[in-house]
Amino acid sequence: MRHPGEVEDKINYKTTFKLIFSLMKPHKLKFVAAFAYLIISTSINLANPIIIKYLLDTAIPDKNTYALALAVSLYFVNTILFLIVNYLLAMKLITAGQEIITTLKNKMLKHLLYLDMSYYSENPVGRLTARVESDTQALYELFTETAITMFKDVFMLGAVFTIMAFYNLKLTMILLPVFPIVFLFIWRFGKKTSPMFVKVRKMTAEISSFVTEYLNGISVVQAFGQENFISKKSNDINEKKFKIEVKAERMIVLFFTTVLLLQPFSIAAVFGFGGMWYIKKEITIGILIMFILYLEKLFEPIFRFSEHISIIQKSFSAGHRIFEILKVKQGICDIERPHYISSMQKSIEFKNIWMRYKDDSDWVLKNVSFKLNKGKSLAIVGETGGGKTTITNLLFRFYTPEKGKILIDETDINTISMQSIRSALGLVQQDMYLFPGTIMDNLKLMDEKVPDSKVYDAIDKIKLKDFFKKHSLKKKVVEKGANLSIGEKQVISLTRAMVLDQDILVLDEATSHMDPYTEKIITNAIKNLSKHKTLIVIAHRLSTIKNADNILLLSDGEIKEEGNHDELLKAKGMYWKFYELQFGKN
Ligand SMILES: Nc1ncnc2c1ncn2[C@@H]1O[C@H](COP(=O)(O)OP(=O)(O)OP(=O)(O)O)[C@@H](O)[C@H]1O
Ligand SMILES: [Mg+2]
Repeated sequence: MRHPGEVEDKINYKTTFKLIFSLMKPHKLKFVAAFAYLIISTSINLANPIIIKYLLDTAIPDKNTYALALAVSLYFVNTILFLIVNYLLAMKLITAGQEIITTLKNKMLKHLLYLDMSYYSENPVGRLTARVESDTQALYELFTETAITMFKDVFMLGAVFTIMAFYNLKLTMILLPVFPIVFLFIWRFGKKTSPMFVKVRKMTAEISSFVTEYLNGISVVQAFGQENFISKKSNDINEKKFKIEVKAERMIVLFFTTVLLLQPFSIAAVFGFGGMWYIKKEITIGILIMFILYLEKLFEPIFRFSEHISIIQKSFSAGHRIFEILKVKQGICDIERPHYISSMQKSIEFKNIWMRYKDDSDWVLKNVSFKLNKGKSLAIVGETGGGKTTITNLLFRFYTPEKGKILIDETDINTISMQSIRSALGLVQQDMYLFPGTIMDNLKLMDEKVPDSKVYDAIDKIKLKDFFKKHSLKKKVVEKGANLSIGEKQVISLTRAMVLDQDILVLDEATSHMDPYTEKIITNAIKNLSKHKTLIVIAHRLSTIKNADNILLLSDGEIKEEGNHDELLKAKGMYWKFYELQFGKN
């Protein structure tokens, strides 16, 4: 499977160009201004050889000190003016570029924030964030450097030829054949190196994701003594990349050497023919020097051209990848006029739910039906991979079932606003996540508007004062909560859900890593609260759910048994077997 973050070989130039153009459009005034500055700066730049010609052909031979001073001052003023206009040009481009990139980054992040869970289960986050950073940076270079400089170069080439032809057509004609040769070279060069650079970029992405993935799992790498193996594997990829890169760079050096050869060759031609015509008095020394000076300006854009080609290639493949991400549609979204709920009044009901994560994979839930009334508690137990977390995924509309209906207060949740469902339901996930910040920040879910008192209330309610005396609320949590034990993270995640204090609470293995003492405090507290709350508790430890009003035993995606603890024990079925395994003597 191809990830949208990966470098693709085939770029759709048309759609990518449209995207790039649409990004530039809101800033068109800035680009028009930059364009004007560019024409002015290039014209100023091209005027200097004419001033020198005037100095050599008129002011100096005429021994006219007034004309000499005038020409020298003009040269000086011209140069200063050139620098000022160039500065203004650069500033216009930098601000336009920064504005475009900031808007684009915000747009991408906003887009990513609303994408479905199914998208994230297929696309590694590391790759996506790298895309947001490095691809937007590649576009920045295009907006600030290449797009405008290319216009400048074409304008410069045309203007220099026109000026030269105006002053001396014959000498200009001598230079003419050089340029088709150069452009042929550039074209061949681009064609040859382009696939090499695509390959290099592909391998760079591969290496960076390889390194990220293995460093993320560094403890496994070290525990299994895989350091050497991983380092060898990374060496192999790096070496492959090195070989292609050297090959591509060799092409660049060869290209520059050839073009470099063409420059003295052209200068020699101008000196040769020009010198001969000067001796014959057909041209002046001023014209000769002017041509030499212009020659330098002609080669400037040519040298830059290969740079442009590589930036254009880079930014088009970056633009293409950005477009691939932006065009991913939110699979699960609200209907046009959705219902809103602030809390549940009656019940949650699953009606004949069939669910699988992919069209061609096995059913994860098969005809699952149950009803949970307000204020009651439901426990779901069952084998690993049996489909318990999938039930919560469906309730939160992270995924949509293939068949069947989920109702909250008899309304299909597909017609209820996603945001209102999620704010009515509290969730403590099995796969918990803490954000960098303090424990307090995490308990407030990074929302500064939540008052401290709400956090203290929650801690009080859940009887965890002692725990948070030991673990200061000011303690810094590092990325992924790596400086906390799993049990501590669970306590924090549970308290976080209590801060929001929703009427419906879904706990997916929320206490599995806590010591029995802490778990008891929390479950007792939740039991007391559950008089007012509706609870869904998923747990492997049966002691946690013994008191639930109703228990579902889920196995292989089906509800095999249903009832309260005593009923299920009496039935002597799977639940009884689980119970015997956990609490029995053998
Ligand atoms: N995002 C996903 N994409 C594809 N398959 C998935 C995804 N999430 C879960 N599954 C598969 O669906 C099945 C049910 O998974 P689920 O997470 O619901 O199990 P569970 O009962 O919560 O298990 P556990 O007790 O281990 O938490 C498993 O076979 C799992 O491999
Ligand atoms: Mg699970």
